[in-house]
Amino acid sequence: MSDFVVSARKYRPQTFDTVVGQHSITNTLKNAIKSGHLAQAFLFCGSRGVGKTTTARILAKTINCFNRTEQMEACDQCDSCQSFHTGNSLNIYELDAASNNSVDDIRHLIDQVRIAPQLGTHKVYIIDEVHMLSSSAFNAFLKTLEEPPKHAIFILATTEKHKIIPTILSRCQIFDFSRIRVKDIADHLAQIATKEGVSADPEALHQIAMKADGALRDALSIFDQIVTFAGNTLTYKDVLENLNILDYEYYFKVMDAAEKEDISTSLLILNDIYEKGFDGHQFVVGLGEHLRNLLVCKDARTSNLLEVPDTVRQRFSEQAKDIDSQRIMRALNILSKTDVDYKSSKNQRLLIEVALMQLCSLKQESEKKKD
Ligand SMILES: Nc1ncnc2c1ncn2[C@@H]1O[C@H](COP(=O)(O)OP(=O)(O)O)[C@@H](O)[C@H]1O
Ligand SMILES: [Mg+2]
Ligand SMILES: [Zn+2]
Repeated sequence: MSDFVVSARKYRPQTFDTVVGQHSITNTLKNAIKSGHLAQAFLFCGSRGVGKTTTARILAKTINCFNRTEQMEACDQCDSCQSFHTGNSLNIYELDAASNNSVDDIRHLIDQVRIAPQLGTHKVYIIDEVHMLSSSAFNAFLKTLEEPPKHAIFILATTEKHKIIPTILSRCQIFDFSRIRVKDIADHLAQIATKEGVSADPEALHQIAMKADGALRDALSIFDQIVTFAGNTLTYKDVLENLNILDYEYYFKVMDAAEKEDISTSLLILNDIYEKGFDGHQFVVGLGEHLRNLLVCKDARTSNLLEVPDTVRQRFSEQAKDIDSQRIMRALNILSKTDVDYKSSKNQRLLIEVALMQLCSLKQESEKKKD
């Protein structure tokens, strides 16, 4: 049996250009390498799984490459690049400050820094979760950060920028990594699915991308998890089942019922949701998002704010056509009030049912006003 390698590791980008969604950062780094004006200390900030460590490793490999391409990418062939691939390069040193945060750990690193590289030109020190260093470790490190030897580059990474003291901030070039957009994640997953021989619904991948909340690593882990369960075809339904997500079909149906002023149907839909074991609050929040989506696709200028696959976009525009903005806004008010009251309510189901009845009466109300 072949060893299973998780996708997040198997598909770690090896070049600047394949890092998803961080182009301004990777371009700045490439330009700095090209012009020879690379800073010696960087601070990479951003949430988990957005490419900080990946970019740091690519930078280390690229500046040591003997045969860089015109586009300032590593050749992946030379001795130095090879040593990075096999994990044998002595020019990269990674310290996880979350678990090694004592003065001794930092002293050990500082001792290393003095030694010049044997192969290649630069040694790159990545200190992950740098905000976790103890204050004495920080102090021991400051001097080295202030006057590093020419061959040393420090990349400090953190998920909590606000915990970094000003003395460090002022010594580093700071890059803020963005959370990755849903569409970019979904596109990336589609490429990986193809490489893995998995045929996946665009809607399934989109749902995974939403769940990952901006972190590409999380998206890949979820993808692996569901493929293990579903095999080589990945459907929207597989994803819903695995992630315990409510099918957006329910929201479309509820709004159809509201349009027809059909209270009974709306209550039956809610019942169905409860019977499937979903939480009422999840439904309230989801319906609120649905309404928001209907509202943004009313105007061509905001329709780009709708982050859904093209097949679903069409359905939103169709449903939005029949309901005027005023009414959507009032529906949103009802939902947000339900959301606020939910926790303190003694009868949460009734609270949602009343909200649904109100939704189903909105049309009547607005027609009365017109008379
Ligand atoms: N921007 C990105 N582009 C492509 N893959 C990414 C990106 N960010 C994360 N990944 C995937 O997630 C894995 C972990 O990313 P990593 O760079 O270690 O995240 P961080 O250091 O920001 O927590 C990578 O191996 C890669 O598969
Ligand atoms: Mg990392
Ligand atoms: Zn090379």
